[in-house]
Amino acid sequence: MSVIQVQGLRSLKGEIKIQGSKNAVLPIMAAAVLHKGTTVIHNVPRIQDVFCMLGILERIGCIYSLDGQEEYIKSMRSSIILSGPLLGRLGDAVTSFPGGCSIGQRPIDLHLAAFRALGAVIEEKDEKLSASAKTLVGADIYFPFPSVGATENALMAAVYAKGITVIHGAAKEPEITSLCEFLNNMGAIIHGAGTSRLAVTGVTGLHDSEFIVAGDRIVAGTYLTAVMAAEGNVLLEGICPGHLTAALSLAERMGAELKLFKNQLEISMRGRPDCVDVVTEPYPGFPTDLQSQVMAVMASGSGWGRVEETIFEGRFGAANELKKLGADIVIEGKRAIVHGLYPLKGNCVTAPDLRGGAALVVAGLAGEGVTEISECHHIERGYENICRDLSSLGAAIRGKE
Ligand code: UD1
Repeated sequence: MSVIQVQGLRSLKGEIKIQGSKNAVLPIMAAAVLHKGTTVIHNVPRIQDVFCMLGILERIGCIYSLDGQEEYIKSMRSSIILSGPLLGRLGDAVTSFPGGCSIGQRPIDLHLAAFRALGAVIEEKDEKLSASAKTLVGADIYFPFPSVGATENALMAAVYAKGITVIHGAAKEPEITSLCEFLNNMGAIIHGAGTSRLAVTGVTGLHDSEFIVAGDRIVAGTYLTAVMAAEGNVLLEGICPGHLTAALSLAERMGAELKLFKNQLEISMRGRPDCVDVVTEPYPGFPTDLQSQVMAVMASGSGWGRVEETIFEGRFGAANELKKLGADIVIEGKRAIVHGLYPLKGNCVTAPDLRGGAALVVAGLAGEGVTEISECHHIERGYENICRDLSSLGAAIRGKE
């Protein structure tokens, strides 16, 4: 599916089950490499990033099988998130500089500083990075600001390090908590999950384990914005609303009515959402991964709002495309000033990145006529089937090659 067509101005109604979390499952798949044995992971989303990770794991010697509901990864180079577990298990990791979304600089200095603190030597040759250590020794790791990936890599490298590692300034995202739970469930000893101080006591072995991946809070947040843009009433199932607190309070400020249940969220939206001010922040603040989608909602809302991006400097890629749909957005450095206009006007646009692509789908729901989004392979990196999900809610949306 490389193109998505959306015919807008139809309200949404119904229920959808939210897929497993991309940002939880990827480090968990990488962490499975720490154990020479079998790991069973349930609720694995069928998305391109997962297939890509499976391809890498297979190349480094893992055996896996993927069935209706589960995934097996057996014993065991390269995406950056694999360097922590490979260093931890083998004392050696070679990786290319990481790819991912083009949403600005994605440096890895914090990852490397963590490996060095544990005793690894880092060398850079021919655009490849190698980290190696005879033995890793527990240490204090200080992060100047929270990084999700660096916290995950530090955790995974520390599992087999001798003695105690303390990560100060750790990221607090639910996906870090998931990774800690997954690792503890396979025999690691980690305390402090969900706080900025994580303590890892090194172990000498891990064991076979099974784990259920939580629902994807960003996919749920995307469908929340879809309902706000299209209006209607929708129940999202299979997520923990407590992981979306900042997004939910923003949605309420914009006029959505929400009902929270243990694993469900009901959203009602009548009339146009109000534009408000929002700033992206590390968890538990408002997530950068929902910034583009909220901008799309405001673009079709009422009044004026301001969106400030503090995590990734290049993350306004969707704004120029939204303007092609008639949106009134002015970018001033890391702020975007949005003047809501409804309806937007269908047009041909290009998905700039994963979440920016999803934002264009959201905007298309509030557009008169047909919005055609190309380069939708970006969207498939993180959404199992956005057309299936939204059409089950009554949207007129289809994908084509
Ligand atoms: C993860 C998520 C991504 C999300 C982001 C922020 C995954 C697979 N991806 O990305 O969806 O948008 O968290 O919530 O989980 N930084 C450095 N040096 C480093 C590492 C990061 O300066 O060594 C900076 C980054 O440029 C960015 C900030 O730290 O400004 C946060 O990035 P980080 O939390 O590391 O994001 P990722 O783990 O790449």
